[in-house]
Amino acid sequence: MKRTHTCSELTGKDINKKVILCGWCSTRRDHGGVIFIDLRDRYGITQIVFDPSHNMEPHKTAEHLGREDVVQVSGIVKQRKKGMENPKMKTGAIEVFVEKIEILNEAETPPMEIDDRISTNEDTRLRYRYLDLRKPAMQHNIMVRHKAAKAARDYFDSLDFLEIETPILTKSTPEGARDYLVPSRIHPGKFYALPQSPQIFKQLLMVSGFDRYFQIAKCFRDEDLRADRQPEFTQIDVEMSFVDENDVMEVMEGMIKHIWRSVLNKDIKTPFPRLTYEEAISKYGVDKPDTRFGLQLVDVTEIVSNSNFEVFTKAIRQNGIVKCINAKSCASFSRTIIEELTAFVGIYGSKGLAWMKVTDKGLESSIVKFFSDKIQKEIMKAADAKKDDLLLFVGDSNHEVVNEALGNLRAELAKRLKFIDNSHFSFVWIVDFPFFKKDEYENWTFTHNPFSAPKPQHMEWLLRKENIGDILTTQYDIVLNGTEIGGGSIRNHKPEALQSVFEIMGYSKDEIKEKFGHVIESFSYGAPPHGGIAFGFDRLVAMMTSNESIREVIAFPKNKSAESMMEYAPSEATEKQLQELHIKLDFVKEPANVVFGKIRDVLNMEKIEYEVLEHKPVFTSKDAAEVRGTELKQGTKALVLKTEEGFIQACVAGNKELDIEKLQKITLFQKIEMANAREVRQVTGCNIGSVPPFGNLFGLKVYFDKSVVENDVVAFNVGQHTKSIKMKANDLVRVVNPVVGEFGK
Ligand code: AMO
Repeated sequence: MKRTHTCSELTGKDINKKVILCGWCSTRRDHGGVIFIDLRDRYGITQIVFDPSHNMEPHKTAEHLGREDVVQVSGIVKQRKKGMENPKMKTGAIEVFVEKIEILNEAETPPMEIDDRISTNEDTRLRYRYLDLRKPAMQHNIMVRHKAAKAARDYFDSLDFLEIETPILTKSTPEGARDYLVPSRIHPGKFYALPQSPQIFKQLLMVSGFDRYFQIAKCFRDEDLRADRQPEFTQIDVEMSFVDENDVMEVMEGMIKHIWRSVLNKDIKTPFPRLTYEEAISKYGVDKPDTRFGLQLVDVTEIVSNSNFEVFTKAIRQNGIVKCINAKSCASFSRTIIEELTAFVGIYGSKGLAWMKVTDKGLESSIVKFFSDKIQKEIMKAADAKKDDLLLFVGDSNHEVVNEALGNLRAELAKRLKFIDNSHFSFVWIVDFPFFKKDEYENWTFTHNPFSAPKPQHMEWLLRKENIGDILTTQYDIVLNGTEIGGGSIRNHKPEALQSVFEIMGYSKDEIKEKFGHVIESFSYGAPPHGGIAFGFDRLVAMMTSNESIREVIAFPKNKSAESMMEYAPSEATEKQLQELHIKLDFVKEPANVVFGKIRDVLNMEKIEYEVLEHKPVFTSKDAAEVRGTELKQGTKALVLKTEEGFIQACVAGNKELDIEKLQKITLFQKIEMANAREVRQVTGCNIGSVPPFGNLFGLKVYFDKSVVENDVVAFNVGQHTKSIKMKANDLVRVVNPVVGEFGK
C-alpha cells in the first residue's frame, strides 16, 4: 500500500500509530536543525517532522526537498508540543515524525505559487491549470461542483426522472448564439453543429413518452465571453410532460433546496417570490435584479413633466421617461464620486446623471431652481426622501437607456455602499416575458425560446399573428443575487402554433421544414403537453462558492478569447487532416487599411494619445527611423512566427534581432521559425514589414521583448509601408497585453 491515511485524517486518536502518507511538499520551516514540512494532498495538510535526533537518514533527504516534490513518508504520529497545536487544522493536534522518505517525483520550481493567499495573473493560472488546480481553494470549488452534480442527480432520481444523453454532433439549435461547426469527412462540404442546448432532443424525448427527463449536459455557444459565459458550459437540463409552469417551478425549487441542504448545509426558503417582467423592469430596471437590497427605481415622469428642467421635459415630450434612485444617506457624496457615477451611467447610454441632495431645508443642487416647491415635495414623497439622502435621476427618450442605466447604477451603489449581504441567497422568478422583440433590422425575433408556448390567453393572437409585441410567453427565468441562473418555459406542442412563431420571425415554409421539420412533424404523432427548464450549472456552482467568474469552478476553462492557454486550442489542423476533410483554407483577411482602422478604433476607444505619420515607403528599421524622426531602438519589429501550435507574434526593438532560443524558453514552444510572406499575409492581411505589433487583433498571442517596453515612445508601421503610428510604449503594452520577456539580441 502506498499510503495508510490521507493528509487530513490523523488526529489525537492516532498517537503512536505507524503511518504512511503521500503528498506534495508545501511550506517548509527549518527550526534549529529540525525541518517541518506541510505535506498536502486534496484532503488537507499534515505536518511532517524531520528530526535528526529521531532519525538521521530522512533528515538528510529532507534538507534537499523542494516545493511541490511528491513524497512518500512513513513515520510515527506524535502529539504536538504544548502551544504548537493548530486548532484551525483538522490535523492540528498531531505531527508525523518521519522515519523513512522516498521522493516519488522531484518538482521543478513551479511557475506559480500553490497558495490561496497569493494571487497570480489569470493567464499564468490557465497556462499551468494543473498546478492552479492544486490550490486548496480550487480543489474546494471542484469538490463543491461534484457534490452539487451528485445532489442534483440524487434528487431527480428520487422523483423518477431519467438521465438521458443527447447527441453532441447534431444540427443547429436556436438558442440565439452562433454555432460551433464540425466538418464531416464522410460528407464533404457538410457540417455538424455542436448543440447550444439539448432543447429539441429533450422535447422529442417527451414525444417518445419519457415524461421526466434530466441531463447534466454540455452546451456550446460561440458568443462574446464574459465572467459568467464560456463557449462550452454545463446545464442541468430538465423536461417534463403533463405539467404547467407551477409544476416545473416547484420541482426546481425543490432541487435548489436539496442541493443547498446537502452541499452547503443551508436551508433555502421556498417558494421563491415571483416578479413579472414588467414589474422587474419598473422596480429594478433590469430583468435579472439582485433582490438582496432595496434601492428601487422610482418613476417620476408625471411629477417632473411640468418642471422647467429642459433635459427632462424634452425627453418626456419625445415619449421618454424620468426615473430616480434614492441613495439613502449619501448626501455626503463628493463631486468626484458623482462624476464617477455619471461616467458609469454613460456606459449604458445615459447622457447624464442629475442629482439632488436632501437637507434640512429641502432639496439642494444646481438644478432645483427648475422645479417648483410643489414638484420638489412630490419628488421627495415619491422617493421617500429623508434628510441626508441623495436622489439620482436619469431621463431619456429611450426607456431602455433609463432602465439599464439606473438598474446598473443601483447594483453599483449597493456594491460601493456595502449594502450587500454576501452570505445571503436571494432567488426570484421572473415571469410573463414578451414573446417577441424587434431585432436591429426591425424584424421580429424571439426573446427567449421559439419553442415556448404563449400565455393561453394570447394563443389566438399568435395563431392570427396579431398584436405581436403584446404576446406574452410562458417563459420563466430564475435569478439568484442578480445573476440569471436558469430559464425555461411551457412548450408550444401544437404544430400550427409553432409554424406561426417561425412565420412571424420571417422564416419561409421551406426554411421551417429544413430546420425544424422533424420537430413539427413529431408533434403531429401525438405530442404530450410539456415544459422544462435549464439551469446554468457553472453559474450555480460559482454562486455557491462565492466566485464572480465561472472560470473558477470549471476545471479547464477557456480564457476570455475562447482559447485554452494550456494545450493551445484552437490550433491549426495539419495538411493531412484538412485533406481528409476536403477543406482548403483561404482566409478572408481584412485589407491593410482595415487593419489601420481597427488599431485607430482601439486607441480611440481607450482614449490613448497617438500620432499618425504618413511617409515615403519604408522597408527597413533604419529607413523607418529616419522618416519618422525617431531613434532606431524606438522602432518596433513585429514578427509573425510559426510554432508547432500555430502562429504567434514576437516584437523586438528596431535595433535588436530575435533570439529564437530565448523565445523558445519563454513560450515553451519547441519549434519557432519565421512565417513566410504568404503566411504573414494569410494571418494578418499585411505584407511583411508592415505588420503592426497588435497581433492580438489577428488572434495571435503576443510577446514583447524588454527592449520594446524600455522605450518611452515607440513607432511602428500599421499595415502599410507608408503609414506609422507613434505612441507611448506603456500605452501599447496596456492595449496589446503581451507577455513581456527577454528575447532580443
Ligand atoms: P438558456 O439559453 O436561458 O436556456 O440557458 C439556460 C441557462 O444556461 C446558462 N448559460 C450559460 N452559462 C455559461 N456560459 C454560457 N455561454 C451560457 N449561456 C447560458 C444561464 C442560462 O440561464 N434550452 C433552454 C432552456 C429551456 O427552455 O429549457 C436554454 O438553453 O444560466
